[in-house]
Amino acid sequence: MKFNIATIPGDGIGPEVIEETILVLNKIGEIYGHEFSFQEVLAGGIAIDKTGKPLPEETVEVCKNSDAVLLGAVGGPKWDTLPGDQRPEKALLGLRGALGLYANLRPAVLYTALKEASPLRSDIVEQGIDICVVRELTGGIYFGERGRKKEGKMGEEAYDTEAYSVGEVERIARTAFEIAMKRDKRVTSVDKANILESSRLWRSVVVEVAKDYPEVALDHMYVDNAAMQLIRYPQQFDVIVTSNMFGDILSDEASMLTGSIGMLPSASLAEGNLGMYEPIHGSAPDIAGENKANPIATILSAAMMLRYSLQLDKEAQVIEEAVIKVLEKNYRTGDIMSKGMTLVGTQEMGKLIVGELK
Ligand code: NAD
Ligand code: IPM
Ligand code: MN
Repeated sequence: MKFNIATIPGDGIGPEVIEETILVLNKIGEIYGHEFSFQEVLAGGIAIDKTGKPLPEETVEVCKNSDAVLLGAVGGPKWDTLPGDQRPEKALLGLRGALGLYANLRPAVLYTALKEASPLRSDIVEQGIDICVVRELTGGIYFGERGRKKEGKMGEEAYDTEAYSVGEVERIARTAFEIAMKRDKRVTSVDKANILESSRLWRSVVVEVAKDYPEVALDHMYVDNAAMQLIRYPQQFDVIVTSNMFGDILSDEASMLTGSIGMLPSASLAEGNLGMYEPIHGSAPDIAGENKANPIATILSAAMMLRYSLQLDKEAQVIEEAVIKVLEKNYRTGDIMSKGMTLVGTQEMGKLIVGELK
């Protein structure tokens, strides 16, 4: 079958990790008789440089008309002084909003071969880690009213607003419960309901949705405690459902439990099959252009794309198994390096994974 995939390499290490991921997908196409047609489009800093805008209309159009979108990362110090709505990161919010990608799945899985790379004590790591963070992606403080007023409490003031409506919480809660039904049937809803009105609404809606899933055990946790519990005893979590900003922060934290942020993929899903797939990490300006970035998060994001948007389950699994095989053969990029392992660069890691595809 033929699939149209919009690719957005973006900035920093984005193009490096996308390049390896395309090699993986091409090899999968070759083995299984699929044609992946890639259309590269601009977003982020590179789009600002070439078109004056972080998210050209053409990019949104191409993405809307594709079967799926694969994104590297956007942003970098070069564009950090631009006003908020002209920054590269605005492209991400624009795409998420325009494509209606309200459900962001961020699975944090510790591979057996990577136990050495986790910073947690070995007695905790021994029990394995397998958490799915379900992050609300088109609401909350990222999309709320923001602005400045000249005369604030103590001089000029800036504000950002957290707002959630019933429907927004309902649909992300439903996503979380559906996922939990296919996993260990446990959902932890993370909020700050002791302080925030939006969290109190969030909690009450999650409780209502839970009634449709009597087999799933639901508990609630404040976000500060959740940040601590993730490190104390990560096995207590199966599915974490949370708001846009809390999910952003907790998923970076969860990624490190699995060895590195360079390992964590994500799927951003809308109603229907369209999805955008990207590593949870950023453009890593500190290692960009040095062939040091770990491409695994992006390659695993492509596996999620095959599973969720293209219904190619078997092929997705083959990619995931190839990643595990390379790790079991002790090849490591710098971010997951430990004693006795073989250090490789981005391109070598990509080729090794391609070599394991069967
Ligand atoms: P970052 O994720 O880019 O980097 C944080 C640290 O993790 C750095 O030390 C980096 O070298 C390391 N790292 C990240 N990905 C790695 C990989 N694949 N392999 C090895 N090491 C990796 O976060 P940051 O430094 O806070 O942000 C840098 C820029 O990226 C900013 O402009 C930010 O806004 C942007 N950003 C974009 C996205 C995205 O496009 N989805 C996500 C996060 C941050
Ligand atoms: C992410 C990033 C983005 C976010 C930024 C770059 C807009 O950190 O995808 O996790 O906060 O959602
Ligand atoms: Mn983030």
